[in-house]
Amino acid sequence: MRVRLKIAFLTAAVLFAACASAQNKPKPKRDPDVPFVPTTEEAVKVMLELGGVSKNDIVYDLGCGDGRIVIAAAKTHGARGVGIDINPERIAEAKANARKAGVEHLVRFEENDLFLADFKEATVVTLFLLPAVNLKLRPKLLAELKPGTRIVSNTFDMDDWKPEKEASAGRDDDEDTYLSHRLLLWRVPEKKSK
Ligand SMILES: C[S@@+](CC[C@H](N)C(=O)[O-])C[C@H]1O[C@@H](n2cnc3c(N)ncnc32)[C@H](O)[C@@H]1O
Repeated sequence: MRVRLKIAFLTAAVLFAACASAQNKPKPKRDPDVPFVPTTEEAVKVMLELGGVSKNDIVYDLGCGDGRIVIAAAKTHGARGVGIDINPERIAEAKANARKAGVEHLVRFEENDLFLADFKEATVVTLFLLPAVNLKLRPKLLAELKPGTRIVSNTFDMDDWKPEKEASAGRDDDEDTYLSHRLLLWRVPEKKSK
């Protein structure tokens, strides 16, 4: 009987602790437009190659998740990077991952809504969002980014704005089927004079 009581008490304590920790998790200020699904390591590599990323670049990942794209850009290409995510939990993970990777001096992470963020200084922008979100973002990208800035998207296109180049990356066996691993590159055109 005493043992059963002990088990019941311990189970209740564990459940209580789990609920308390879930409640203490920092929450986004509004619902994210896209859930967190990380780009595979291989696709990250191909995206950075497709974007021609070098140490002279500033790479912005809009909706950066755990920070893997800007961290890889810093680690393997020596680029500076900024990751923006609406979810404070992702930002905390990204900062910890940058620390572990030893690239804190090259990258920073910002909790922000990508539709409100200032990313003018980017020379490369990476996206893994959704078709409708890419389209909603397109006017801001074209208005605010410098001509020549490269935009690389995982899987999703920009409707009638045709990519300059495409590449693909292999699939993981346990991958969700809707991820094509088609990677697309655009370049921001010169602004039209009025
Ligand atoms: C599919 S994940 C991509 C993560 C990372 N870029 C990668 O490729 O591994 C999309 C990310 O966008 C973030 N997100 C969704 N809506 C956002 C918004 N309005 N502003 C900033 N981040 C957003 C989500 O929290 C999530 O981490």
